[in-house]
Amino acid sequence: MKVEDIKKILVIGAGTMGHGIAELAAIAGYQVYLSDVSQDILNSAMDKVKWSLTKLKERGTIKEDVETVLQRIRPVVGLDKTVSDADFSIEAITEKIDVKRQTFAKLDELLPPHAILATNTSSLPVSKIAEATKRPDKVVGMHYFNPPALMPLVEVMKGDKTSDETAKVTYELAKKLGKQPIMINKDIPGYVVNRILGGINIASCIVVEKKLADIKEVDAVARYKLGFPMGVFELLDYTGIDVAYYISKSREELGVKDDIPICSLIVEKFKNNELGVKSGKGFYTYPGPGKYVKP
Ligand code: NAI
Repeated sequence: MKVEDIKKILVIGAGTMGHGIAELAAIAGYQVYLSDVSQDILNSAMDKVKWSLTKLKERGTIKEDVETVLQRIRPVVGLDKTVSDADFSIEAITEKIDVKRQTFAKLDELLPPHAILATNTSSLPVSKIAEATKRPDKVVGMHYFNPPALMPLVEVMKGDKTSDETAKVTYELAKKLGKQPIMINKDIPGYVVNRILGGINIASCIVVEKKLADIKEVDAVARYKLGFPMGVFELLDYTGIDVAYYISKSREELGVKDDIPICSLIVEKFKNNELGVKSGKGFYTYPGPGKYVKP
């Protein structure tokens, strides 16, 4: 398959990442199916896409009318024959290997043989997800950053059996979506960015645990010395503390041995259901669930 053959894109999961990926694909002119488990979630996702498109239009980033772009996205509850003409799918559901494998098995049944099945997983091995399908050569990692409409980098990562053609088409699709892709030729859970970020998170966590500095001070270092757009703890809140927790847990369950242990502060916040911006409280406190103001 060539990148020009891609006409319809299916995004599975309409949460933090999925709605943004669907938005990107619609801006680039693709017909998009956006799937999630309930109509309520899809309605809220479409509201967020509309809000974001309106901002992009105000800034002159998009030329077309908001409604024209929005109409390219078709929300779909569940996964059934409705989506069976998609040429490329991007999965952005919960970071749990069993749930992802079930979804990939379903996608394998539903989508045409030429379709590429990409995952936005942050930490799971692409090869383990690909095993759930009969087309592991067409399964690939395509890792976006939050918010997908604004963050330029996309990591394209090959699983053990991903073909060169699949990786190339995915890389080219990322470029068509206006992104700057990088190619990672080995299946390394956490890709490159999250391995580096994981190391920074754990180092920051140790500083706070040992009471050498508090979270605000660590975040000031990240912003004013390291030049990060957000502090370390601010970014964890923004991403979702549950996401960071599941990333570490999934690696543990899969027996992924590496040098990035789980941060005890993340475990504590997760257990208290303080998940960051999405719950209204995390390392910082926000005006309400889902309401982000810079701490
Ligand atoms: P989220 O929790 O905001 O959204 C996940 C969505 O998937 C929810 O709306 C949920 O209802 C839906 N879902 C769950 N099971 C489903 C199924 N079987 N079929 C259809 N929809 C289903 O999660 P978020 O943050 O968007 O993360 C999604 C994926 O993207 C995860 O793999 C995560 O590791 C990865 N990721 C997250 C980033 C972030 O900054 N939040 C950045 C890059 C990757």
